[in-house]
Amino acid sequence: MERLLIEGGKPLTGTLRVSGAKNSALALIAGTLLGEGVTTLSNVPHLLDVKIIAEVLESLGAKATLSEGELRVDATNVNNHVAPYDLVTKMRASFFVLGPILARMGKAKIPLPGGCAIGSRPVDLHLKGLRALGATVNIEHGFVEAIAEKLYGANIYLDYPSVGATENIMMAATLADGQTVIENCAQEPEIVDLADMLNAMGADVRGAGTERIVINGVPKLHGCDHEVIPDRIEAGTYMMAAAITRGELTLQKIRLDHMQAVVSKLTEMGVLIHPIDANTCIVKAPEDLKPVDIRTLPYPGFPTDLQAPVMALLATIDGTSMISETVFENRFLHVDELLRMGANIKTEGNAAVIQGTRRLTGAPVRATDLRAGAALIIAGMAAEGETSIGGLHHIDRGYENLEAKLNAAGGTLKRSQVADPLLV
Ligand code: EPZ
Repeated sequence: MERLLIEGGKPLTGTLRVSGAKNSALALIAGTLLGEGVTTLSNVPHLLDVKIIAEVLESLGAKATLSEGELRVDATNVNNHVAPYDLVTKMRASFFVLGPILARMGKAKIPLPGGCAIGSRPVDLHLKGLRALGATVNIEHGFVEAIAEKLYGANIYLDYPSVGATENIMMAATLADGQTVIENCAQEPEIVDLADMLNAMGADVRGAGTERIVINGVPKLHGCDHEVIPDRIEAGTYMMAAAITRGELTLQKIRLDHMQAVVSKLTEMGVLIHPIDANTCIVKAPEDLKPVDIRTLPYPGFPTDLQAPVMALLATIDGTSMISETVFENRFLHVDELLRMGANIKTEGNAAVIQGTRRLTGAPVRATDLRAGAALIIAGMAAEGETSIGGLHHIDRGYENLEAKLNAAGGTLKRSQVADPLLV
């Protein structure tokens, strides 16, 4: 097994190109199942999670071919409505195939995704929406079994603007008979990206990006070509890497318009974010930054996926900052690891109070989830001495070529094999 070793203390300087968005690609790939034809996705990040969901598609009868940032899916002959237990439980986002398979085949049997480190991750809103569309949905032996000879348009109110529930319901509704309205839906850029692809496949989806989406069902969808939007969470992580090392990075292939809350908070801290054009910006951080308070919220609020990285950054800024995590119930697992690096953080429920200290110290730490791993990497790049990080499988799932990109900008990250299994 491996650990990641980082020699900290050097400012990052250079240029980084941001990859396609993991959380968009996974939903888009599930959505290709709706098309009776070939869909080619470009700007697809090369990630373990993408490979897993492509395997799920193959198990359902589609042909999925991944090569150099491009995924070609031929979903003409989707012929299996049962998704494999081992694959879905390996990667929660495989649950996004539920809506498309139900709409395409009239039935679906998908393993109930487990919880994970950051929370119980229920799917009640997904099931509420599919039932509203006329499906009979039961949970038996760890599987969600949904049946619907035909799906019918319905008015659906989401108690919480769940990203996954909005995506699953939107995809199922594209082939329902009649009009579906989803109220209080998620407004993330990934929702807009999915709606754009579905419309290119012949669907009629309007209002994506607002709190109300209207879908007029059509008899069938065809394939299309679609480019995945840039990853706003990866881009935000690199902005924070530049800030925590007090360096200067040029970020390419980003969508600044997807990052207003993040840009606003970094600017409030005193980080200089200078747009070169709509897809390029320079991020520069002076030595003295200011503490800020952050509350994570559904889009367009500050994204929960950047809560751990921004906490690492705030831990190096003199003064008192506060973070409220309102989206997930257990997303402070990175705090204990940051404390091992000399951070001064106290948590009470979903609130964390950070007393910043300019110098963290390197230490052996462990990634507990994808974004906690990212937080530890940027903390290690700013800390004095060496940080060694275990739990790398979390990181490899969500950040394409992370080490190569950071090392090309002056980072000193390298992997080392460890003999002692207790140390990974
Ligand atoms: C997506 O997860 C992302 N994953 C998450 O990114 C992201 O943190 C999250 O949206 C919020 O932005 C993918 O897109 C693959 P939710 P999702 O449904 O869809 C509750 C990362 O690190 N809820 O919006 O699962 C839920 O418990 C990952 O890249 C219900 O109560 O998130 C949570 O508290 C982590 N019932 C809140 O809503 C439901 O039926 C937000 O969940 C569904 C969700």
